Amino acid sequence: MAKKTFLSGIQPTNIPHIGNYFGAVKNWVESQNTGEMESFYFLADLHAITVRQDPKLFKQQTLDCFALFLAMGLDPEKSALFVQSHVPEHSELAWILGCYAQFGELSRMTQFKEKGEKQKEGEVNVGLFSYPVLQAADILIYNADFVPVGKDQKQHLELARNIAQRFNSAHGETFKLPAPDIRKSTGKIMSLSEPAKKMSKSDSNANATVFVLDSRDTIIKKFKRAVTDSEALVEYREDDEAKAGINSLMSIYSAVTGKGFDEIKSEFAGKGYGDFKTAVGESVADILAPIQEKYTAIRNDNHFLEACMKQGAERASAKARPLLHEVREKIGFLQL
Ligand code: TYM
Repeated sequence: MAKKTFLSGIQPTNIPHIGNYFGAVKNWVESQNTGEMESFYFLADLHAITVRQDPKLFKQQTLDCFALFLAMGLDPEKSALFVQSHVPEHSELAWILGCYAQFGELSRMTQFKEKGEKQKEGEVNVGLFSYPVLQAADILIYNADFVPVGKDQKQHLELARNIAQRFNSAHGETFKLPAPDIRKSTGKIMSLSEPAKKMSKSDSNANATVFVLDSRDTIIKKFKRAVTDSEALVEYREDDEAKAGINSLMSIYSAVTGKGFDEIKSEFAGKGYGDFKTAVGESVADILAPIQEKYTAIRNDNHFLEACMKQGAERASAKARPLLHEVREKIGFLQL
């Protein structure tokens, strides 16, 4: 039986946080290691320029994030690991698919509306608007079956399916319809300081976000300051807004230790939130320690990192080219 294809991406801006790790990358590594799928994982640098980047810093961050890919357990022998702009097929398909996407549906994208509000009035760039079309191209060009992402990407996935369907009904079966693969408990890790908001790289509150390269002390300190509630009961209650902080901490602790919510509840029965928060902080610091060690060992070897990127880009391009050829043919482009 043909292997299923898994694909996902992350923007190489700043260092990933534990929401990116538990919500996405950790799952990429797990599915990669089953050996049962063909996997494509990339740094979405084209997506990142919808916000101005400092060119020098951007190059460094791309190398940082690629080194982190490897440190977090992605393996260039098992998965195609690459940088989006090194595979020009993404951009070409994005232009084509833009002609199969509708203004109205793009205007309704939550992320566009939220990010658009943060940019200065009159300066919202077209890239920010058409961002989900590029994302659709990223996914459809590999005929991905599954896209492991956090909950915030669900709407973009639905759009990719709509665009694929529209193209298929105009030109015959061409693209597979991709399905999101969202983990129920870690698909949305919340900010530590405002548990109603998702954890984000660009939060202005330094205590809100735990980055995967934060020191052990910083990690524990941030968890100790996490906002919870006044009930002093470590119990997961999904639809109870007051429990958003505890729910998120329990989800993180569960992802790290493999313990279920009932087991965690009994472990901390009769104990205060202080003990619980320290335990979560320590468990996260423990799981990140080997990642940080491996990162330090490989980060300065730019030759090695660039060789891995090149290998990944060639592998990705080889898979993308035939489908792009088919698309060009179906549209009626004259091919030389
Ligand atoms: P990005 O870089 O914002 O985030 C990378 C991944 O991390 C997930 N994530 C979270 N998961 C749980 N809790 C959180 N607080 C949290 N914050 C982020 C995201 O859902 C994502 O899976 N547009 C994408 C990148 C992209 C992409 C693609 C993804 C470009 N092309 C094709 C999948 C397929 C983005 O900006 O992710």
